[in-house]
Amino acid sequence: MNDAAPNAAPQTFYLKDYKPFGYEVESVKLTFQLSPNATKVHSAIRFNPKADAEDNRFFLHGEQLSLISAKIDGTPVTARLVDGGLECDVPRTSFLWEAEVEIDPAANTALEGLYMSNGMYCTQCEAEGFRKITYYPDRPDVMSTFTVRIEGDEPVMLSNGNPTGAGEGWAEWHDPWPKPAYLFALVAGDLVNHPGSFTTKSGKDVELNIWVRPGDEGKCAFGMEALKKSMKWDEDVYGLEYDLDLFNIVAVDDFNMGAMENKGLNIFNSSCVLASPETSTDANFERIEAIIAHEYFHNWTGNRITCRDWFQLCLKEGLTVFRDAQFTADMRSEPVKRIEDVIALRARQFPEDGGPLAHPPRPEEFQEINNFYTATVYEKGAEVIGMLKRLVGDDNYYKALNLYFERHDGQACTIEDWLKVFEDATGRDLSQFKLWYSQAGTPRVKVTEDYADGTYTLTFEQSTPPTPGQPEKAPRVIPMAVGLLSPNGDEVRGTQVLELTEAKQSFTFDGLASKPVPSILREFSAPVILERETTNSERAFLLAHDTDPFNRWEAGNALAKEVRVAMVLDGAAPDAAYLDALEKLVRDDEQDPAFRALVLSPPSQSDIAQTLHERGHTPDPQTIYDAAETFTQTLAQQLETSLPRLYAATTVEGLYVPDADGAGKRALNSRILSLLTRLDGGEQAARQYASADNMTQQYAALAALMKAEKGEAQSKAFFEQWQDDRLVMDKWFALQIACAAPEATAATAKELTQHPLFSMKNPNRFRAVMGALAGNHAGFHHASGAGYQLLAENLIALDSVNPQTTARMCAAFQTWKRYDSKRQAQIQAELERILATSGLSRDTHEMVSRMLSA
Ligand code: BES
Ligand code: ZN
Repeated sequence: MNDAAPNAAPQTFYLKDYKPFGYEVESVKLTFQLSPNATKVHSAIRFNPKADAEDNRFFLHGEQLSLISAKIDGTPVTARLVDGGLECDVPRTSFLWEAEVEIDPAANTALEGLYMSNGMYCTQCEAEGFRKITYYPDRPDVMSTFTVRIEGDEPVMLSNGNPTGAGEGWAEWHDPWPKPAYLFALVAGDLVNHPGSFTTKSGKDVELNIWVRPGDEGKCAFGMEALKKSMKWDEDVYGLEYDLDLFNIVAVDDFNMGAMENKGLNIFNSSCVLASPETSTDANFERIEAIIAHEYFHNWTGNRITCRDWFQLCLKEGLTVFRDAQFTADMRSEPVKRIEDVIALRARQFPEDGGPLAHPPRPEEFQEINNFYTATVYEKGAEVIGMLKRLVGDDNYYKALNLYFERHDGQACTIEDWLKVFEDATGRDLSQFKLWYSQAGTPRVKVTEDYADGTYTLTFEQSTPPTPGQPEKAPRVIPMAVGLLSPNGDEVRGTQVLELTEAKQSFTFDGLASKPVPSILREFSAPVILERETTNSERAFLLAHDTDPFNRWEAGNALAKEVRVAMVLDGAAPDAAYLDALEKLVRDDEQDPAFRALVLSPPSQSDIAQTLHERGHTPDPQTIYDAAETFTQTLAQQLETSLPRLYAATTVEGLYVPDADGAGKRALNSRILSLLTRLDGGEQAARQYASADNMTQQYAALAALMKAEKGEAQSKAFFEQWQDDRLVMDKWFALQIACAAPEATAATAKELTQHPLFSMKNPNRFRAVMGALAGNHAGFHHASGAGYQLLAENLIALDSVNPQTTARMCAAFQTWKRYDSKRQAQIQAELERILATSGLSRDTHEMVSRMLSA
């Protein structure tokens, strides 16, 4: 009955094969008798055959279930167990299906279905985990109301919706909103709540709770505030109100993802909800606020309107990421959020889109859907919505969204439905725009310019390289936000959106007294790679003068990249003009500290490798590392005399407040500290470490010291102080690997896998170590191949414990074709070793085969 792990010919599912289920599910009643190794689940499901069904096969998904009994209308029936579920002969009229199954939550280390985490029962059903709880049509287009009875001796027993009764050893819940099974949730354990409340705009009182393990009560206040802000924001901006009397959030230590939007009962990885100044960094606070918002926003974009099938995943995820980005921009700083998102997009999505795992935001086939919760579905999915909003304008965007909620509430929808509301609300034909959903790959846009007799012409040429299964690409609609500056820095043309629709297209601007400096792709108005011949002095000009903050950062970023690429390719010294520009900026107190911190953060080494690769070079990770070191050292020296003053001037004193303002200042201060530590032997960092009263400053000091190989004592002290705090220990594990020199990275990581606190069962801990290994570019790609080997070994070991996390982490190898033939051969050997593992999961099998076959 176990899903025998297939090493060959796993099933592929295709979008084109979609067929509705032949039965409507009128209601679901579930009874759980909880027991760690033998939980009984009784289901009573009313099915109504659809009169117009093209297929009336009665097939229910089920995996890792022991079927005890099955009945139809009270009479025992014999179900046929088939691959992945069961079949049964059923009446052609309405009938009640009842089944009793037994499951083993304590043995469930895959963390999908019903499992145990620290003695607490919890569930994770998206995407296809409900089938590990009972037999059911486990597909998002089957929606029903759920009534749940939980029997057990846990002090707190929760499910979706509203409580309808409770007594000694039992609790009952009812969720009035029809939902797909992937939104089902159950939690039971020894939990305490941090309560709150919210009154909706129409005056409904909603009870809010964050449930945590005893001892974590003090880490809930920030999350609760974030939840209330999210509820208010969704009312103010989208007019969307919460629709139950109760909203519960639960923190769980063992969780594959960040968090999950189960109806009325969101379940969070504890790292994404628990926060305190002593244990969380500014970055943690920002992420927690965003993810609470994200899961809350799913209540409308995901739950009330869900996906017809999993190919449509970006319908809910892309939209909800877009909405949480709007929220963060409103709560914090719009340009800073945009810059952070573009950095993340380039770090995660561009490599995916340019490598063997490339797929469109709406894929057309998959073997394991868990492998498609990707940067492309999420982040590019959100970018596509941003482009749509820019093309139709803000008013039309909200008009279309209103129509979407009005027309599709309670339905399971497709990307076609989504685009249709925009067409209907605006009268616009979106057939070409739709290519963004079906074509993979990042478009390259080459820009050339011409100036004569007061007329300035910009010519754009777009093309998209081949991706797996898509050798040819048609031109897409690309909104190109452009402004023009005069040579003295004035803006002579404010931002306007040019709509590219053809492979090659020109736009002219008349009446210009002199040749302007163009500011192209403002706000990063489309997820493309811009190619334009330009000079470093023009980039420096834009860094100083552009009125678009995003493009100001982008000019600095492009300049930084050019300087580093020149250092790598020609052994050039760090460009003096660039160093001067940075110095000027860092001292300019008129500028937002967060912005200065971003400009002062160099492009990642992986980003340099990607850029070299895009330009036809073979990146050498060690050379890239050396150039980064030289550059940072030179910058530190250049700033030497001003660093102590800058450090003092940017130090945030007084009570720690995790807001955008304080976080920006601390980010700048930490950058300066890391430079200073290269020169002062770690004196200042040691002082900061000793006096810090918050994790942001403690961590920044520790990181600066460890990077300079001066942090041994502090690392020990940190361990002593925090060894009982799992989330802080994750930082300790990761930091040692992130700060290790290239030749020591794999050895450091390996040693940490022997540490008594390392565990394969906790995804956060595994990711802390193996994620840090994969994230240390020069260390992971060290010529010895030790990094590749260590990751592969650990992925093989993890696969039988937790396939989902294994498969996601395999993506660390996705950039392998960038590197030289020796490294490629090393990686190929590791990928083949993984693939040859007996009993390899379907998840990992799919990922590794895709990486090998491209
Ligand atoms: N629905 C997802 C959680 C999920 C992902 C469940 C994959 C099952 C499989 C949730 O809404 C989500 O997207 N979470 C993100 C964080 C978010 C802020 C982008 C996550 O968990 O990383
Ligand atoms: Zn989501």
